[in-house]
Amino acid sequence: MDIIIRDTYEEMSRYAAGLIASMVRQKPDCVLGLATGSTPIGAYRELERMHREEGLDFSQVKTFNLDEYLGVGIDLNKPYKMDQSYARFMYEELFKHINVKKENIHIPDGLAKNPEEFCKEYEEEIRKAGGIDLQLLGIGGDGHWAFNEPGSSLASRTRVEILTKQTLDDNYESFYKKAGISREQMPHFAITMGIGTILEARNILMLANGRKKAAVVAKALEGPVTSQVTASAIQLFRGGVTVVLDREAASELKNTEHYLHREKLKSTFFPGN
Ligand code: PGA
Repeated sequence: MDIIIRDTYEEMSRYAAGLIASMVRQKPDCVLGLATGSTPIGAYRELERMHREEGLDFSQVKTFNLDEYLGVGIDLNKPYKMDQSYARFMYEELFKHINVKKENIHIPDGLAKNPEEFCKEYEEEIRKAGGIDLQLLGIGGDGHWAFNEPGSSLASRTRVEILTKQTLDDNYESFYKKAGISREQMPHFAITMGIGTILEARNILMLANGRKKAAVVAKALEGPVTSQVTASAIQLFRGGVTVVLDREAASELKNTEHYLHREKLKSTFFPGN
């Protein structure tokens, strides 16, 4: 596992975008797994810049998003309004700024009539696309990957999940409050790729920033592998793993010295890295 520590969020984001861009350059028709939340926004801005200024070409890239809120809200007969959907987030933060083709974008459908059937089809779509080459991930305050809340099986597949109080609180603060939506109106269910689904990607790129992620990052990377911190499944991953952290998110790691040492020596042993 490569753990890369950068001083600031901006540097972390540039590093992460550089890795995504090199995947796109090496394999123009690659399949990217994408994430929402506040963490990847800086990397998305940088990809947008690379597209605009350097001609980074997404025309053959396929994308699969990790998760989406389910449109249940309070009233089961009225789908939750889409303003805060992850589909809208992705469009605003990335897709409208780059040349990815609409037909190549896949986001779980929060308004699917039969969500369970939809989840099976989503897995099938990923399989038909040849699997995910590079999966981008954040980490939730409760240690989740995507919406795999504590207690989710580490072998889980795409499915409907019930959000924890902590996730609701975190996402209320980051997104819903600003949109003037009450805490009670927030959707409490989501469609999420499973941990087992995520572990089938060929490469993983996990990002975290800020002091408030420090404890959970240390648990996921250096603690026991446990379904109580589903991001700890990173330790089971058999493909290429890069974790990029800012200084604050890395502040509770115990082996920092080794990670820095490893980064330095890696470029001498594996030139080009
Ligand atoms: P955040 O969410 O990027 O808004 O902190 C991360 C996550 O829940 O995975």
